[in-house]
Amino acid sequence: MHRIVVEPPKPGVRLIEDDEPIPGPDELLIETLEVGIDGTDLEIARGEYGAAPKGEPFLTLGHEALGRVLEAPDDSAIRRGELVTPTVRRGCDLCLPCKSGQSDFCFTGLYRERGINGLHGFNSERWMETEEYLVPVESGLREVAVLTEPLSVVVKALDQLLKIQERLPWKETGDLAEKKSLVAGSGSLGLLATFLLRVEGAEVLTMDRQADDAVKSQLIERLGAHHLNAREVDPLTLARDFDGFDIIVEATGAPQIPFHLLPGLGDNGIMVLLGVPGKKMSIEVDAALIVREMVLSNQVVFGTVNSNASHFRRAHGDLTKILARYPTEIRQFISHRQSWREFEVVFGGQRKDVIKDVLVWAE
Ligand code: BGC
Ligand code: ZN
Repeated sequence: MHRIVVEPPKPGVRLIEDDEPIPGPDELLIETLEVGIDGTDLEIARGEYGAAPKGEPFLTLGHEALGRVLEAPDDSAIRRGELVTPTVRRGCDLCLPCKSGQSDFCFTGLYRERGINGLHGFNSERWMETEEYLVPVESGLREVAVLTEPLSVVVKALDQLLKIQERLPWKETGDLAEKKSLVAGSGSLGLLATFLLRVEGAEVLTMDRQADDAVKSQLIERLGAHHLNAREVDPLTLARDFDGFDIIVEATGAPQIPFHLLPGLGDNGIMVLLGVPGKKMSIEVDAALIVREMVLSNQVVFGTVNSNASHFRRAHGDLTKILARYPTEIRQFISHRQSWREFEVVFGGQRKDVIKDVLVWAE
């Protein structure tokens, strides 16, 4: 059986062939249909992140997957032939969140993540998983279901954000409708946040460093959001026009950006950090200004990572809404679909106009 592997912390990605997996008594055998590639995969491929399973040299890459059940135990609620989307994190089994299906809030840090940290991912022809980590998806979502995992991360972020904002008398508009939102970054998470905020009726500005005629910029405009080229427009001037943003979603992973954007946050505003910075970086900030504004304006900044099965189920619901409202755009979001045999193209470095790469393992 083929699988795409890395050998952390060495850079480089390659294909290996090894034995067929043999499912344990409570495991389902899954045939891989599609695997999405994101910034985390590229980081692991560069040797900057990730860890192989204990005692093994290789890590199978891939954590955004859509599969089809080939074999299931007799007592499994998920049956042969069903489509499934696997969650990423496997809990520590020690802390309360992990014991209650919320390993995305693990306290001990002893969790593992498939395709990222200590467990093989999904870029192989087949893999195994127990039922609790598989979220079935209806066949109507077949074309876009590979987006479940990255969307679930955004679903969790916005869910947390709304929970925190329950502190406000937002009741008459107790949701995202008409909220003035700034999304920084047009990677998978930034764009999916743009889709979701637009579906929920928010006013959205999505900022990146792309020209206005770039593929991503045009996609953003077609969602009824506004594209902003950070090389040309000062977001703070815009924030002033907006009278301060209600919501800022940071999805660039560049650690200075949240500090630059904070003055754009409005009264009672909230900023959610999704991007994970890599390299060390120091900047000079006006700490007094930041702290004063945060206190005097009741502002919140919070980080969020990963997602659990409940977010996957909601992501399926949101994918249905997105498909209904933006059928062309969500399909265009998956800009490149290619056979797993072409994996070197995907990991080979910068290419123009890639929005989302998906490796196809089976039809
Ligand atoms: C994945 C998350 C994971 C995070 C940190 C992201 O790319 O989508 O599920 O928790 O990386 O490893
Ligand atoms: Zn835990």
